[in-house]
Amino acid sequence: MSGLMTVVSLSYLVSAACYVIGLHMMRTPKTARNGNRLSSVGMFLAVIMTFIVALVKHQASAMGWILLIVALVIGVGYGVYKARTVKMTDMPQLVSLFNAVGGGAAAAIGTFDYLSKPNGASLAFAFSFPVILDLVIGSVTFSGSLIATGKLSGHVSGKPISFPGAKLLNGLVVLLILGSIVLTVGFPTNVWTLVLAIVASLVFGILMTIPIGGADMPVVVSLLNAFTGLAVAMAGFVIDNQVLIIAGALVGAAGTILTLQMAAAMNRSVANIIAGGFGTGDSGGTATDDVPVNVKETSADDIGVQLAYAKNVMIIPGYGLAAAQAQHEVAELAKLLTDNGINVNYAIHPVAGRMPGHMNVLLAEVNVPYDQMKQLEEANSMFENTDVSLVIGANDVTNPAARKPNTAISGMPILDVDKSKSVVVIKRSMSTGYAGIQNELFSDDQTSMFFSDAKKGLQDIIAATKEYLDQ
Ligand code: TAP
Repeated sequence: MSGLMTVVSLSYLVSAACYVIGLHMMRTPKTARNGNRLSSVGMFLAVIMTFIVALVKHQASAMGWILLIVALVIGVGYGVYKARTVKMTDMPQLVSLFNAVGGGAAAAIGTFDYLSKPNGASLAFAFSFPVILDLVIGSVTFSGSLIATGKLSGHVSGKPISFPGAKLLNGLVVLLILGSIVLTVGFPTNVWTLVLAIVASLVFGILMTIPIGGADMPVVVSLLNAFTGLAVAMAGFVIDNQVLIIAGALVGAAGTILTLQMAAAMNRSVANIIAGGFGTGDSGGTATDDVPVNVKETSADDIGVQLAYAKNVMIIPGYGLAAAQAQHEVAELAKLLTDNGINVNYAIHPVAGRMPGHMNVLLAEVNVPYDQMKQLEEANSMFENTDVSLVIGANDVTNPAARKPNTAISGMPILDVDKSKSVVVIKRSMSTGYAGIQNELFSDDQTSMFFSDAKKGLQDIIAATKEYLDQ
């Protein structure tokens, strides 16, 4: 190995270590930011080394370099701009778009490397197999993620789209993909099997994603993220690049774990998702689609009294809290209460908001102590002793319809808010949440509704509570 390649290999090793340690640091909010930074340093190092190798080994023509640099400037510019300006609530569609880019890039690498082999050369299994897997997984991820991005951003209908014979078509396309894999490995010089694999995989990505409706979407985005990792790892095998293999394997493993955890949190089977039997929850009945009758309205003043005289208060944050950017107000209210000897905790549902860990990130931003953030099971064991549950912009994650069959969220574990002595819901109207169904909790005897934007409503509640606490 030349001196240069030794330096490059060592640098790749450092990069890989940065990813692994960075990922490890992302397991808790305290160290997550630095973990992200460390991983970025690893990626920066890997990109620089790749450029140096290409330069020293004359791997690109003058035109190639121009294209490479223009693409890099556009990619980095867009990525930095998007990452800095994206709203937290739009994060899932950005992640999904990045998945599409990752999967597409991996498929492009495989195609290019395959086509650049001399015509008629006999290609070893160790080359043709990763190439075809790279193409298939990358293409499925590319088209599937673009559809997911469209659905999440509202450019494609968020409702499950199905048509007669969809399952049969899915089966046929899967057969075509399997056939193209076998043919490519058996006859690696026939370029048409590759074309068939790409087209069939792109179609499968679309077919796989369109039947998925609202509540299942996060699981699918996470699954496609895992696919991106696998495709990138395969691309690493194709061009014999260790850092790509390691980075891809890490993304694949992390994405798979997240997918399993989210599927469990939403009671959706991953096997069913992979097989194309999507959206079983979303296409369910409409048992709770009617607007609940007899909802009671309340006022900031009344909520102030309830909070001032409570012993245990549980705050249930949801998407609306993030949309209103009311995290500062919620932390201020919690501090006011705890300063006056009232126990305050937060019940965090794993899919509250619009991305994994959304509520944890929001609350960490305003320095909510970690020991006050209770995850689903622990929170559920506390509701019976809760005097006031303050539901702020949360809807689906508190909806008792999940306990009944044939609703859009049937089987999804929920926060058992309805077990607390009093429930106050802050939201602007009787509009439904992400899953599009009404919430029976709102018409429960112990529930009262405070119709307001979360930020403004909390400001009013803080003012009222202060009066009763004699501040
Ligand atoms: P949702 O069920 O979506 O309900 C949010 C509620 O917030 C809405 O009913 C809305 O009612 C209210 N709201 C919106 N803006 C508000 C504002 N400015 N002030 C006050 N309220 C506001 O939220 P959730 O309970 O957090 O559940 C999350 C849902 O999103 C689940 O169905 C989950 O499957 C899905 N999802 C989750 C993720 C991840 S990974 N977390 C990703 C994609 C989808 P009004 O319009 O009446 O105010």
